[in-house]
Amino acid sequence: MTPHAPNFSAIPAERLPELLRTMPKAELHMHIEGSLEPELIFALAQRNGVSIPYASVEDLRKAYAFTNLQSFLDIYYAGASVLLKEQDFYDMAWAYLQRAAAENVVRTEMFFDPQTHTARGVAMETVVSGLHRACVDAQAQLGVSAALILCFLRHLSEEEAFATLEQALPYRDKFIGIGLDSSEVGHPPEKFARVFARCRELGFHLVAHAGEEGPPAYVWTALDLLKVERVDHGVQSSKDAALMRRLAADRIALTVCPLSNLKLCVFPDLAQHNLGALLDAGLVATVNSDDPAYFGGYMNENFVQTFAATGLTAQQAFQLADNSFVASFATAADKQAWRDRLQAHFAGF
Ligand code: ADE
Ligand code: ZN
Repeated sequence: MTPHAPNFSAIPAERLPELLRTMPKAELHMHIEGSLEPELIFALAQRNGVSIPYASVEDLRKAYAFTNLQSFLDIYYAGASVLLKEQDFYDMAWAYLQRAAAENVVRTEMFFDPQTHTARGVAMETVVSGLHRACVDAQAQLGVSAALILCFLRHLSEEEAFATLEQALPYRDKFIGIGLDSSEVGHPPEKFARVFARCRELGFHLVAHAGEEGPPAYVWTALDLLKVERVDHGVQSSKDAALMRRLAADRIALTVCPLSNLKLCVFPDLAQHNLGALLDAGLVATVNSDDPAYFGGYMNENFVQTFAATGLTAQQAFQLADNSFVASFATAADKQAWRDRLQAHFAGF
């Protein structure tokens, strides 16, 4: 215990939402294309002369009634079709980063899906430059540390992932890691074992979506074949006791996204979410927004709604925020500074 160790029991339950909102935190699982608000989709569609099959912002928002991951992805890829120019990617990322700063997110590691854009004739350079310029400005103007993780779309082939990697390598100083996203069931991690091995040789951090809708077996192969450092979602792991022990023993973080899980019907309601059980089992669980424009909330909404529904405590809030820094790919010095800041925030609350 350090001299400034927080006294969790002194924090009254009615102040928990304020604590959750004000505490410094890292976001480790968000798709920047999933931060495109309907208003920005319409503005970019008009700016670029792209037609979208919705009459209005309200009409588009009404379509956000999802039954599973695929029903969301169809709309998410359609929304991303308005992004054409470097400035579009900048504007999208900048809008999210301002929001992150306002929610006391001090570090964010943002996924991007280049194949969604290069398939429409947008150059890799356009995508990476716009996003990276926003990251640089976020540090300078908002004090937010922001980094990029390039994701391969798992419904496409490994050959296409290799080609995407080749296209991205000239810009390798502008992203820190590689991820795997899109339609999970039927596209297990092992499909990408060789390209992940190459990315590992190249020195990238590795993560993958696994156990969102897919079985615990996909989490095992993400760990053993892809050799990921974190598992995105991973909530299905609780169905496999041996896997839970492995995740706890190896300190593999799960980037859990409660409102996403709710909106994609992974859990029937937030009260039944297993975030508390994951923490109780000693896992390095974190809270994240996934696709905040589509799932009804950014970071703080994820924290506040989940805590209200599940009865998680101030101590668990501290644990989740501390986990987010521990599991981030920032420098050891930055991580320690944020963890100290978190501790001071709780002690002074
Ligand atoms: N792409 C964007 N959001 C995703 C999610 N929740 N799962 C898989 N792929 C995604
Ligand atoms: Zn995701």
